[in-house]
Amino acid sequence: MTGRDGVFIAFEGGDGAGKSTQVRLLAEVLRARGREVLVTRQPGGTPLGAAIRDLVLHGDHVSPRAEALLFAADKAHHVDLVIRPALAAGQVVLTDRYTDSSVAYQGAGRDLGADEVHDLQMWAVDGLVPDLTVVVDVSPEEGRRRRGEVHDRLEAEADAFHASIREHFLAVARGNPQRYLVVDGTRPPEEIHAEVLARVEAAGVVDP
Ligand code: TYD
Repeated sequence: MTGRDGVFIAFEGGDGAGKSTQVRLLAEVLRARGREVLVTRQPGGTPLGAAIRDLVLHGDHVSPRAEALLFAADKAHHVDLVIRPALAAGQVVLTDRYTDSSVAYQGAGRDLGADEVHDLQMWAVDGLVPDLTVVVDVSPEEGRRRRGEVHDRLEAEADAFHASIREHFLAVARGNPQRYLVVDGTRPPEEIHAEVLARVEAAGVVDP
């Protein structure tokens, strides 16, 4: 028993922003300070999620609404089977991407409408909202440079697509500073990590 409540932290940002490194660094510190940490990612994180991930990221063309529904199905299953049980057990759950990715990529990027995709996502996750969302921000050009080789259908989209996604993340974060932290993804990973950890400590997730 950790003696503390479960805490849910999501990392969001464009492709190549460096989210995964930040998830890893935060998980290491929280574990070293005695918290049980579950690290997961979306899409994926369950066998069904891995199958959906393959279909939606590596298949042929997927119609935009089908794409939105597949990402929503992945989240519904993942939240039910993995995230809620971990939170109920008092763990810290760190997820590499969550509902804001869908609102940004399918809502803003694919023009399906941010409000509609937000509603769909909230239905899928039955209203589970992170305690904190960290947006790791880099420009589309920098993201493209870091990705190097293109790995999936969404990464392959033009810079304008990635620019609208970035704008979306920043606008959402600006509108809700209590629940969002925006970090400059071009700074050294250790500096970004220190900023994230300070915020997590301030929220009482671990003692400083
Ligand atoms: P992934 O390889 O996990 O990318 P990254 O390492 O950058 O997080 O691929 C996830 C891709 O799926 C990424 O391009 C964003 C996209 N995505 C959506 O379009 N909608 C979603 O709901 C989620 C979770 C991801």
